[in-house]
Amino acid sequence: MPSSHWWRTAAIYEIYVRSFADGNGDGEGDLIGLRERLPYLRELGVDAIWLTPFYRSPMVDGGYDVADYRDVDPLFGTLADFDAMLAAAHALDIRVIVDIVPNHTSSQHAWFAEALAAGPGSLARDRYIFRPSSSPGEPPNDWESIFGGRAWTRTPDGEWYLHLFDPGQPDLNWDNADVRAEFESVLRFWLDRGVDGFRVDVAHGMVKAAGLPSVGHPQQIGLLGREPLPYFDQDGVHEIYRAWRKILDSYPGDRMAVAEAWASTPLRLARYVAPDELHQAFNFDFLAAPWSAAELRSTIDACVEAADSVGAPTTWVLSNHDKARHVTRFGSPEIARAAALLMLALPGAAYLYQGEELGLPEVLDLPDDARQDPVWHRSGGTDPGRDGCRVPLPWTAGEPAYGFSTTGRSWLPQPDWSSFAASAQQDVPSSFHSLYREALRLRRTFTGPLTWQESPADVLDFMRGGVRCVVNLSGAAVPLPLGSVVLASGDLPDGTLPPDTAVWLH
Ligand code: NOJ
Repeated sequence: MPSSHWWRTAAIYEIYVRSFADGNGDGEGDLIGLRERLPYLRELGVDAIWLTPFYRSPMVDGGYDVADYRDVDPLFGTLADFDAMLAAAHALDIRVIVDIVPNHTSSQHAWFAEALAAGPGSLARDRYIFRPSSSPGEPPNDWESIFGGRAWTRTPDGEWYLHLFDPGQPDLNWDNADVRAEFESVLRFWLDRGVDGFRVDVAHGMVKAAGLPSVGHPQQIGLLGREPLPYFDQDGVHEIYRAWRKILDSYPGDRMAVAEAWASTPLRLARYVAPDELHQAFNFDFLAAPWSAAELRSTIDACVEAADSVGAPTTWVLSNHDKARHVTRFGSPEIARAAALLMLALPGAAYLYQGEELGLPEVLDLPDDARQDPVWHRSGGTDPGRDGCRVPLPWTAGEPAYGFSTTGRSWLPQPDWSSFAASAQQDVPSSFHSLYREALRLRRTFTGPLTWQESPADVLDFMRGGVRCVVNLSGAAVPLPLGSVVLASGDLPDGTLPPDTAVWLH
């Protein structure tokens, strides 16, 4: 029975390890701190956690620049700390998904050092994408870095290497047999340690179009998601996932993988979650949809239809460590609360980002000298980057660094978050935390596909099993449908559902 797979309906909580909880007082979140806070996650009611990279890394891109895929960076602890955290999570019935970063390594990875030293034409260079100039002094093609600027950096011997992200993140050559074998071995390394799955970074990027053709125009990434690009979503990438699926399936315990993939249409995205490939793909169309009933409904329908076409579950996500927090994106805590009830009523898996259960806003006023995201630096300070959604969590009101670290240190400064701290919200019925906790508890009883009900324009109304979810996106209150209220994102005065409010009814 497919429905017995835990990941089909799971609520998975993303942990940006550096900003979750600091166990040793250095102001950086770590694995010991995370382990100590696992009971909080059990109580919140999540089924699994996804950890952003904690591997050895110079931290040019928050750890998405991996120098050693088989070790923990001292910033985050040791392999023994990882094992202890994993055992503690499993003891609480929380599954653990780790990030795998296969599109690029760090420029401090041993392979890259070898490639630079070995010179043009060497076997070591073939593991990456080195090319000569297209004409004197000119890069091999016009590809742009997703972080701004060109995607090529020139080495002292005149060859260029490709980096779709920061120059500290050279792209691997997935036509090279060493690269394929290495990542299969890395998967096994973490599966053997007992992880329940992987989040695959830039899952659509590993294979590049033959001949590395130029795109032909600038601002390529601005068009991402609609225009086919020679460095994204190439057909050849699927062969990699068919090989990975065989490895995952060879382990007991229902292991899984979720793709961070961008494709031009929901149907192209569905190819990543064919039965012999990965298990899930993030649904960024939902994250990107504006607060509009028509847009949300058509996005939900398109995503459900695409996932159904290959028998995969849909996934839903409102925030992550790359996007402005949705309280700020929507410009209103009320909308964020209603959006959470919408998301958590939908069929499939839901991904939560640490702190959204506290209603944290994006931090917009970080001092420039505190910012660390390469997006900020490579854009010459014109794009604030992603540090604003990575500010360490407030745990305890009244404590230094709100209890994030034992010493009050915090690698990014926190604003006045007294009222947002977990301690200020737990057991307060009207809080974000209580809403999420109750929604996650009730959500476990929801089964089956959704059926839209007839509703006024600007109102979303659907049934799932015995529950009815109604969301009012219009500017005026609407009558509350008949039924007993199970949970609501805000007050329901006089039998009405106010604007920007969601309700679950029986
Ligand atoms: C996606 C990750 O989520 C992001 O944080 C990172 O910068 C890029 N991939 C590059 O690895």
